[in-house]
Amino acid sequence: VTVNVGVIGTGMIGQDHVRRLTHVLSGARVAAVTDMDADRARAVADGVPGVRVHDSGQDLITDPEVDAVVVTSWGPTHEEYVLAGIAAGKQVFCEKPLATTRQACDRILDAETAAGRRLVSVGFMRRYDEQYRAMKEIVTSGQIGPPLLMHAAHRNPAVPDSFTSEMIINDSAVHDIDVARWMFDQEIAAIRVLTPRTSSKARPGFHDPLLVLLEMADGVLVDVEASANAGFAYDIRGEVVCEDGTVELSESAGVVVKRVGTHSGRVPANWQERFARAFDAEFQAWIDAVTAGGTTGPSAWDGYAATVVCDTGLAALRSGNREPVVLRERPALYDKEA
Ligand SMILES: NC(=O)c1ccc[n+]([C@@H]2O[C@H](COP(=O)([O-])OP(=O)(O)OC[C@H]3O[C@@H](n4cnc5c(N)ncnc54)[C@H](O)[C@@H]3O)[C@@H](O)[C@H]2O)c1
Repeated sequence: VTVNVGVIGTGMIGQDHVRRLTHVLSGARVAAVTDMDADRARAVADGVPGVRVHDSGQDLITDPEVDAVVVTSWGPTHEEYVLAGIAAGKQVFCEKPLATTRQACDRILDAETAAGRRLVSVGFMRRYDEQYRAMKEIVTSGQIGPPLLMHAAHRNPAVPDSFTSEMIINDSAVHDIDVARWMFDQEIAAIRVLTPRTSSKARPGFHDPLLVLLEMADGVLVDVEASANAGFAYDIRGEVVCEDGTVELSESAGVVVKRVGTHSGRVPANWQERFARAFDAEFQAWIDAVTAGGTTGPSAWDGYAATVVCDTGLAALRSGNREPVVLRERPALYDKEA
């Protein structure tokens, strides 16, 4: 069986997912694409045999030849397409964020709950990274005791001029927020955002780096150093401190080079390099689940919680205070893994 996938938004990550679906993974093909920029959609379609180009996302979703939908357009447009996918009864994979406001996420939860089955998966690919998975396995096994703290760093090499301090939370730290909820299987109760001395590489008025403090519901604390202009590389760090030991992500390069006086290895240049295999694993799992008639991976509830924590984080950045995270009651639909 081949899942016919329609892709909405053929920008940077949309193109990468089209490549992945066409050349890397099994069980799926890209059957249709669309983009607000029609030339871009046509250029992407040129490289994919038998693909249709649609004028709009709505047309693509209702195309009977499209079995499942991938949403990789700009964040503020996700809500519309996810809702249309649910209305059409099709499985939807939505890149993060699920939607950019709490209200929009609420509408998606309401629609999916009314449909009575899980139709939405959100692209938090770190859950598929081998190192994060191994770390969660150790923490969950209890072999190093109950967790107390997690230290994390998310260092981006450089960002475009349009990037703001808010985007460090919404676009970068959102991944660490999802990891914290997943790692400890619980919600985030409060968030605080501290602003160290700003890097001279940041634009004026821009706080960079940020120190984001997440308080988990049971009191575990997670600190995330999030920076946009770390300069040297894309560097992802994580360490969970438990009562009887610690577990940390190792360097991601496969080899260590030793020469006179030094040992060294490659640091990834960007997120594409660091998480390439996680994206592959995430999509293969989703295709397999869609083939079996369902979905898998982070749910609309996970997307909702991440957006609410980010919103609360923006309030904490403005206020300088500890801000409690207020979530709605979780619908029973999300009690179990999909
Ligand atoms: N999981 C990750 O780590 C990760 C990494 C990068 C991007 N993303 C997410 O993927 C999404 C896309 O990011 P990107 O970097 O590819 O951006 P991009 O700007 O390169 O591409 C977005 C594309 O969507 C198109 N588009 C915008 N509005 C549209 C609409 N209403 N209908 C159809 N097409 C529309 C644009 O023309 C553009 O081609 C964002 O939500 C981003 O947060 C996730």
